[in-house]
Amino acid sequence: MKIFIDTADLDEIKEAESWGVLDGVTTNPSLIKKAVEKLKNKGIRIEMDEYIEEICRAVNGPVSLEVKGIETAEMVKEAEILYKKFNHVNNNVVIKIPVNTAMEEEDKIFEGIKAIKKLSEKEIPTNATLVMTPTQALLAARAGADYVSPFLGRIDDYMRDKIGIKYGKWDYFNGALLKEIEKNKRSYNENEIDRLYKKLVSVEYCDDGIYDGIELLESIIKIYRSYNFKTKIIAASIRNSFQVRKSAELGVDIATIPFKVLKEMMSHYKTREGMKKFVQDVVPEYKSIFEEV
Ligand code: E4P
Repeated sequence: MKIFIDTADLDEIKEAESWGVLDGVTTNPSLIKKAVEKLKNKGIRIEMDEYIEEICRAVNGPVSLEVKGIETAEMVKEAEILYKKFNHVNNNVVIKIPVNTAMEEEDKIFEGIKAIKKLSEKEIPTNATLVMTPTQALLAARAGADYVSPFLGRIDDYMRDKIGIKYGKWDYFNGALLKEIEKNKRSYNENEIDRLYKKLVSVEYCDDGIYDGIELLESIIKIYRSYNFKTKIIAASIRNSFQVRKSAELGVDIATIPFKVLKEMMSHYKTREGMKKFVQDVVPEYKSIFEEV
C-alpha cells in the first residue's frame, strides 16, 4: 500500500518526506485554507503559485490539486490551468474533481463525472473525490478517473450522526457492532413478524447497505477487482491508525493519511518503554565496539 499525506501544510509534507515513506500528497480547498491560515497567524504571507510549486517539488509522487468550480466546463478549464501551471514542476499533478458537485437535491448531479470523462480524453489525470458510495466509485471508474477517493471518516461521521452516537473526530467507528445490534433485534415472535418487520425497516441503520467507511472501501475494491478497473483506490478521510490497518488488510492501492495519524501509526507505549531499557542496558563492553579507531 502506498502512503500519501493528506495535507497542504508544507512543513508536514517535508517532514513526512524526510522519513522516506511518502509516495504522494492530497490537498483540497479546506486543507489549503488551513495551511494558509496557519501561515497568516505566524505573520507569513504566501504567494499561492509558488507555494503549490514547492509542494509539487517536495515529493516525487502524485500531488492532487482540487478544482473550485461546480460546472463541467469551468472544472475542465480550471483543471487545465492547474495542470499547465504546476505539472511542469515535477510532472506529478493529478486533478481532484468532486464526483458530484450538487449541493442541493435539485442541482445537476453529473457535472463531476462529465468533467472526469473530458479530462480523461485530454489525458489529464484525475482523482474523483467526495466518494461516499460504491456506485459513485463505479461511475468514476467508467468515466476514466485515474484515482478514486472514498471518504472513510466522513461515512463513519454520517452513520454516527444518523443514529445519535456521540464521538470525537479521531475515534474509530466499528460498523460491525452496529450490525450485531441490529441482528439481535431480530429475535422476534412469529406472530409479530409483520409489526417487527415494519418497525425494523423504519429504522435504517445502514447507508444503502454500507455500515462504515471500511465497508465502503471493501465494496469498491470488490467491484474494481471484478472488472479489472485500472482506477487506483485511495482510502481517504482517514482518522486513525486502525483505519489504516484495515485499509491495508483489504489490499487498497493507497491510503492518504493526516500527519497526526502518520505519527500515531509509529507510536506505542511498549516501544518507548523497550527503547528506554535498551538505552539503559548498554554496557561499556558493548559501547566500546562503536568507538572509532
Ligand atoms: C481526501 O483526499 C480529502 O482531502 C480528505 O481525506 C478529507 O478528509 P476529512 O474528511 O478528514 O476532511
